[in-house]
Amino acid sequence: MSKKTIPNLDVAGKRVLIRVDFNVPIKDGVIGDDRRIRAALPTIRSVVERGGRAILLSHLGRPEGAGYEAGFSLKPVAERLSELLGKPVGFPDTDCVSEASAAAVKAMGDGEALLLENLRFHAEEKKGDGAFAAKLAGFGDVYVNDAFGTSHRPDASMVALPKAMQGKPRVSGMLVDKEMRYLSKTLANPARPFVVVLGGAKVSDKIGVIENLMPKSDATLIGGAMAYTFVEALGKRVGDSRVERDKVVVAKKLIDEAARLDHDMHVASDHVCSTQMSATSGDIEVFEDHIKDGFIGLDIGPKTQSEFTKVIRSAKTIVWNGPMGVFEMLPFRVGTKVVAKAIADATDKGATSVVGGGDSAAAIEAFELSDRVTHVSTGGGASLEMLAGKKFESVELLDEA
Ligand code: 3PG
Repeated sequence: MSKKTIPNLDVAGKRVLIRVDFNVPIKDGVIGDDRRIRAALPTIRSVVERGGRAILLSHLGRPEGAGYEAGFSLKPVAERLSELLGKPVGFPDTDCVSEASAAAVKAMGDGEALLLENLRFHAEEKKGDGAFAAKLAGFGDVYVNDAFGTSHRPDASMVALPKAMQGKPRVSGMLVDKEMRYLSKTLANPARPFVVVLGGAKVSDKIGVIENLMPKSDATLIGGAMAYTFVEALGKRVGDSRVERDKVVVAKKLIDEAARLDHDMHVASDHVCSTQMSATSGDIEVFEDHIKDGFIGLDIGPKTQSEFTKVIRSAKTIVWNGPMGVFEMLPFRVGTKVVAKAIADATDKGATSVVGGGDSAAAIEAFELSDRVTHVSTGGGASLEMLAGKKFESVELLDEA
């Protein structure tokens, strides 16, 4: 069932509580990547341009939960949002539920926007506390979940708050709607061939995704550091590469399951390696099959690159999660770039491509290919859980369309 979305709700004169995910990287007060702020703009604009009062709620990072901490303040976000919206964004106080915050909400006019301070300055947010949620609920007439990146969390503002607002409209924002469409609905009925490309550091993060998508897809390509757990499971030597020893058995089971299903699974078969993980490494070697002791696998090799490219170019639906190597370092970025380019080329030819996860999103942005894929998710953990087929209570309890 589809959820009711914000454009289908009359918001004129209403106080609209919008839970967004403004958990963006900030260093010394400077925002490193404002993609999540930009992604929330359609919903915020939809409210303020129709005379609603947008009261924005978010967390930032993982503060102690014992009150205000300057390093975790959302103030730089309020400033950036104001620039992007082209209008002032109120930022009333260091405490999201203080009297000053309540007074600022009360004083809002139609079409105005305000951001409350980091919800996680209250430990109650992480605890999913009902009394804390009830205080926030008192600020709004309507609840909007547009925090896709946080949708997998049972935090107070995600679950207890919409529960406390039962009887009032509780709808999804435009970002959540879009993310659900690409990460869930598109994959439920994919155009074929459907190819899943997985990389990144940890196998443990991806097991649920492989288990869920293998029966639904035609091919799985495995690169990145997670590949070495699979390489080990295939009985090959991995040198000093990163292996999750406690996941080798699971990796072997997944390889066997792929064979049983006649699923086209490709594990990286040659590797760009070095004795050190360094951008200025002087001893880079490519090994096929077995990696020499003392060497660490840091990127997929040329043979794997062309094998993966061939499979991706033939796809009609592609999901990509996790880089193929340490793409932040020049000597080890080729594999990720080649894969990103192949996905962009397939998309040009009509494939639907979905890029999820913080690192692959950062990679596709770094290669300036974001505009050539269908959807780049704003979710890290949330997109992985969605790809693993999990349902989110924070979305389930919103009103049906
Ligand atoms: C994220 O960046 O994955 C979300 O904002 C959730 O943050 P969390 O992992 O600290 O709950």
